[in-house]
Amino acid sequence: MHLKDSFNRSINYVRIGVTDRCNLRCFYCMPKEGIPYEPSAQLLSYEEITRLLHVLGNLGFNKVRFTGGEPFLRRDFMTLLEQTHALNQYSDIRITTNGTLMIKHIPKLKEMGITKLNLSLDSLDEKRFKEITRRDDFSKVMNTFDTLLKEGFDLKINAVVMHGVNTDDILPLVNLAEKNPVSVRFIEEMPFNGGYKKNETIFTASDIYNTILDTYPSFEKKSGKHGDTATNYSIKDFKGDVGIIPAFSRTFCNTCNRLRITAKGEIKSCLYDSGVFNIRDFMRSGVTDKQLKEKFFEIVKLKPENGFVAEDNAKKSSSKESMSVIGG
Ligand code: GTP
Ligand code: 5AD
Ligand code: SF4
Repeated sequence: MHLKDSFNRSINYVRIGVTDRCNLRCFYCMPKEGIPYEPSAQLLSYEEITRLLHVLGNLGFNKVRFTGGEPFLRRDFMTLLEQTHALNQYSDIRITTNGTLMIKHIPKLKEMGITKLNLSLDSLDEKRFKEITRRDDFSKVMNTFDTLLKEGFDLKINAVVMHGVNTDDILPLVNLAEKNPVSVRFIEEMPFNGGYKKNETIFTASDIYNTILDTYPSFEKKSGKHGDTATNYSIKDFKGDVGIIPAFSRTFCNTCNRLRITAKGEIKSCLYDSGVFNIRDFMRSGVTDKQLKEKFFEIVKLKPENGFVAEDNAKKSSSKESMSVIGG
């Protein structure tokens, strides 16, 4: 069984932000002083998250991605993963992480079969990494990267491309996929910036494409999966592949299969809405699983056909909400 929205899209993928906190301060995401964090009592508890996952699993959801902030920053995050794994309802449990706090958890993750990770890494140059993240954690992240590869994890690298900041990193990052079986994905910067005043121009997906094609003429589009955010490309003799996520300039709304739940239980039916319902308050009012289930039927019907309307860019860019709150 699959939950369908009003436009006949099957919704089977939930992204859960487990915390709005982060130990890095990537300038496209947060101001240097950070953002006002939610007090812990406002966050969904692990019991509440697993209850939601159980109900969603019964509605046909089979993919969950835990995001943040930085998910490993939340206390006992591994416990939540164990509880999710024990539900036995999700064939796909994934995490988006900055890779600074997880090295010690690698053996346990492997044991649970949670081996698909998206690792944020915007530069392979230590100095630039520090400029972008405002923290000195480059060697930690690279150490995590090497260990994950050695342990056979299925890795996607997320690099946000910023005009005039890390465009020189594109080719070195592409090289990671030459030597290693990883997917290196370049993301157009989105104007969710928690206060950062962005460059006038966006380094677009087609700029990224052309930069790579100039050096690698065998750069060739691969076929994709339903709901993919990235367009993936192969390059001759590469062990891995390269993806481009036109997060700002495209719409992939027609294949959208996801719901988002923020750390404080706000449900976003679309990346661009500001929350359609608070499921934490609803659960705390003592509802039954049946009522929760019915609520999800109502909520998916609120998904807009196309939440990202190009003409609305100006309005959207005034959003001060950080990706750390939205969960990516
Ligand atoms: P998979 O679909 O599991 O591969 O995950 P993903 O690639 O969507 O996840 P990830 O957390 O790595 O996000 C990568 C980038 O895609 C981030 O910059 C996200 O903000 C962006 N992204 C994710 N979902 C959406 C979406 O619904 N719309 C848009 N425009 N961008 C998105
Ligand atoms: N634009 C594009 N991607 C962003 N991310 C965070 N903020 C932005 C932004 N303003 C990315 C992170 C992470 C993913 C979840 O979202 O780098 O890899
Ligand atoms: Fe943290 Fe990710 Fe935001 Fe960077 S982009 S500050 S790693 S949540």
